[in-house]
Amino acid sequence: MLNQIVTKIAQKEFARALKFAEGSSVELPFCNDNQERMLYIHIPFCEELCPYCSFHRVRFAEEPGRKYFQALMNEIKIYREKGYKFTGVYVGGGTPTVLIDELAMMLQYVRDNFAIREISVETNPNHLTPEKITILQQAGVNRLSVGVQTFDDALLKKIGRLEKYGSGKLIAEKLENIQGCFDTVNADMIFNFPGQTPLVLKNDLDILLRLQMQQITFYPLMVSTITQSLMDQHIGKVDFSRERKLYKQIAGMLEREYVFSSAWCFSRKKSKNTMIDEYVVDYDEYAGLGSGAIGYLQGICYANTFDINQYIELLHHNKLPLLASRTFARADRIRYDFLMKLFSTKINIDALEQKYDGKFLKTLWKEMIAFMAAGAFRYFAPNLCLTARGRYFWVIMMREFFIAVNNFREFCRRQAGIF
Ligand SMILES: C[S@@+](CC[C@H](N)C(=O)[O-])C[C@H]1O[C@@H](n2cnc3c(N)ncnc32)[C@H](O)[C@@H]1O
Ligand code: SF4
Repeated sequence: MLNQIVTKIAQKEFARALKFAEGSSVELPFCNDNQERMLYIHIPFCEELCPYCSFHRVRFAEEPGRKYFQALMNEIKIYREKGYKFTGVYVGGGTPTVLIDELAMMLQYVRDNFAIREISVETNPNHLTPEKITILQQAGVNRLSVGVQTFDDALLKKIGRLEKYGSGKLIAEKLENIQGCFDTVNADMIFNFPGQTPLVLKNDLDILLRLQMQQITFYPLMVSTITQSLMDQHIGKVDFSRERKLYKQIAGMLEREYVFSSAWCFSRKKSKNTMIDEYVVDYDEYAGLGSGAIGYLQGICYANTFDINQYIELLHHNKLPLLASRTFARADRIRYDFLMKLFSTKINIDALEQKYDGKFLKTLWKEMIAFMAAGAFRYFAPNLCLTARGRYFWVIMMREFFIAVNNFREFCRRQAGIF
């Protein structure tokens, strides 16, 4: 019951928060501070498209791919000229490693222009070849995040990945071969696929534990409006009422050897690097570069065009490819920080009070009382920490946040003529 209330409130809040104003007047301000920001770069190409995925991606072709990387370089240059300084890079997709030579050149360009401390790149199991791994190491990649989803062959077949990426056994072997090649190797997993029983999930967890993965991100299956019909055809109906039990199973099995880097990201105890998929947790602000990327800079949340040709064309003329934006009022910024920062499972209240001139708790008192009454937090001064129950509430809220973002992406993709 409480979970349904949290779901409903989150749905309403995020639908409101993600109402962007469209138009060509969208502008990004210059930057004259030294705040550490993250550079998110989106590569929207995949060799094969998975039916459950609602990220912005199209089928890969070499020619537009190369032009796209060229456009990215121009976009990076514009941000530098506007005065932004980045210390972390996250390259997501799609599949960023489809054109590894271009990726390496782009990362070199970023490192030449900013004092970068950490680089994270997403990839798929087919790209874990010795050649590509060496190029990624030489490019300074600290964290490689591999899309696994599950090791169960029947489920891999159902989600259209068995033929593309091979059996669970083969994927596990590939992961084993790259252990130690980067500060962090992360496996991206999904739970709550239709037909994914607790036994199937237990086998996945056993394999991850045997591999001693440094980091595991277990996403709850997130279904947006268009993926829903594709899912219905290929995979089946999603039953959200099973989610909590499966999440408890994951947390219960991993908690002995892993710490929570976020409510759904588990980092092996004693591992030295904890960069995670959700850069929104670690960085107050991030720039979004690439077609369909979303950024949050100086209180402005914005999205780039989803039309890849238009993206390339605009940057060819050195114009930022902005599609829509929304300037967050202070109360929105506080709520956004509260949601994102607490996803890491704890927040420092004193630091947030200072950041918001003593207005943090005054703005959020209703939410605080409601979550306290529901047993979501414990306060160990100066930190507010999520309890086990609170961690699941945050899984629900972040799931709904990403579904709202995915719905926005789908709307924009349709506008751009991509289905
Ligand atoms: C954008 S993908 C990039 C990884 C790479 N392209 C691959 O699939 O191997 C990053 C991760 O997002 C997760 N993901 C994609 N669609 C999802 C969905 N509908 N619900 C939950 N997680 C999803 C998957 O775990 C995926 O590996
Ligand atoms: S899950 Fe990865 S490979 Fe599949 S479509 Fe999404 S981004 Fe591409």
